[in-house]
This record gives sequence, C-alpha cells and structure tokens, in this order.
Amino acid sequence: MKKRLLTVISLTMLVAGIVNAELNNPGGIGGVNSLRGASELEDTRPADDFKKYPRDQVLEADFVYQPPLIPHNIRGYEVSLNANKCLACHSWKNAPEMGATKVSVTHYVNRQDAVLADVSPRRYFCLQCHVPQASANPLIENDFERVDSLK
Ligand code: HEC
Ligand code: HEC
Repeated sequence: MKKRLLTVISLTMLVAGIVNAELNNPGGIGGVNSLRGASELEDTRPADDFKKYPRDQVLEADFVYQPPLIPHNIRGYEVSLNANKCLACHSWKNAPEMGATKVSVTHYVNRQDAVLADVSPRRYFCLQCHVPQASANPLIENDFERVDSLK
C-alpha cells in the first residue's frame, strides 16, 4: 500500500517536471539542423578548429568599393579602446615608413561628411569591414560572380 502511494507520488512529480520543462522552453531546446549542426541549446558542442590563414597572399576584389581583404596575417594585432595596431602601419603618418598602403581619405570622413584630422571613429574598428581570408569550403552553396568590370 505504502509502495503504491510512493509510485503515484513520483509519477505525479515526473509529469509535473515535464509540464514545467515545456513551460520554461515553449519552443523546445533546439535540435534544428543549422550551419553548426543539430546540437541542442542546452548541450555544448566542441568548438571548430581555427582556420589556417596564409601568412601572405594576394586577394583580388569581387565588387567595386569592396573593403580590400587583408593580405597578411593579423594574429595578435590588438584593436581596442587603448590601441590600434593596424594604424601603426596604415595611418597616413606611419604608412610610408612601414611600406604599407595608407588608409584612404574616406577613413577620415565622419557621417556628417566632415573631413577630420584623424581617423574617423566609424572607421576605427578595422575588422568590422576588412577581414583576412582563409581557404575554407563555403558553408552554403553560392553562385556569386565577380562584377563584369573586375573580371
Ligand atoms: C607591421 C605592419 C602592418 C600591420 C600592423 C598591419 N598591416 Fe595591413 N598591410 C601591411 C603591408 C606592408 C601591406 C601591403 C601588402 C603586403 O605587403 O602584405 C598591408 C596591406 C593591407 C591591406 C590591403 C590594402 C590594399 O590596398 O589591398 C589591408 C586591407 C590591410 N593591410 C589591413 C590591415 C588591418 C585591418 C590591420 C590590423 C588588424 C593591419 N592591416 C595591420 C602592413 C601592416
Ligand atoms: C566601415 C567599413 C570600414 C572600416 C571600419 C575600415 N575600412 Fe578600410 N576601407 C573600407 C572600404 C569600403 C575601402 C575601399 C574604398 C575606400 O578606399 O574607401 C577601404 C580601403 C582601405 C585601404 C586601401 C586604401 C587604398 O588606397 O587602396 C586600407 C589600407 C584600409 N582600408 C585600411 C583600414 C584600416 C587600417 C582600418 C582601421 C583603422 C580600416 N580600413 C577601417 C572600409 C572600411
């Protein structure tokens, strides 16, 4: 008799637990197939390995006004509130001595179209627009073609 009562209680608790989980996660906990696989939100999937970036490479543009891709390794280059390693070579002041391309004049223009005396804050975080490129398989099929004028 006592045993039966316990079973009933634990069954009730189990059902309550399921109902509770559904209430807390009304959309379920993932398992939907995506570019990172089908792992569920509550599981931690091991991170992918870093891609290998070539030390130096020539990268051509695919469309006009594209931020040029970074043709060199940028490992360890800090870009933060305190320091901008990129500007140590690419600023107008340092570029000639470092043999690097100067950032273009557009990088000195703010959003009111005023030309500033230093790099505009909206061009400070270089990696927002410029990225190095690794040789990697595309995540999804892509039939993008270079614009005619650059073919
Ligand atoms: C030690 C100096 C140095 C540093 C630091 C550096 N670069 Fe460069 N960068 C160069 C040189 C030199 C070139 C010219 C191409 C080459 O020799 O690789 C270049 C080329 C580039 C180009 C291609 C320009 C073009 O017209 O095609 C981009 C974009 C670029 N760098 C972005 C960056 C960014 C972003 C950072 C910071 C994350 C950075 N660089 C840090 C030296 C540097
Ligand atoms: C908001 C996007 C954006 C940010 C942020 C940005 N750039 Fe650019 N960059 C561009 C675009 C677009 C071009 C090509 C058109 C042009 O010259 O303005 C370019 C061009 C360049 C070039 C080639 C200039 C030339 O004459 O060929 C260099 C070098 C460069 N950027 C470096 C940098 C560095 C270093 C930083 C960070 C201090 C930076 N960029 C931040 C968008 C950006």
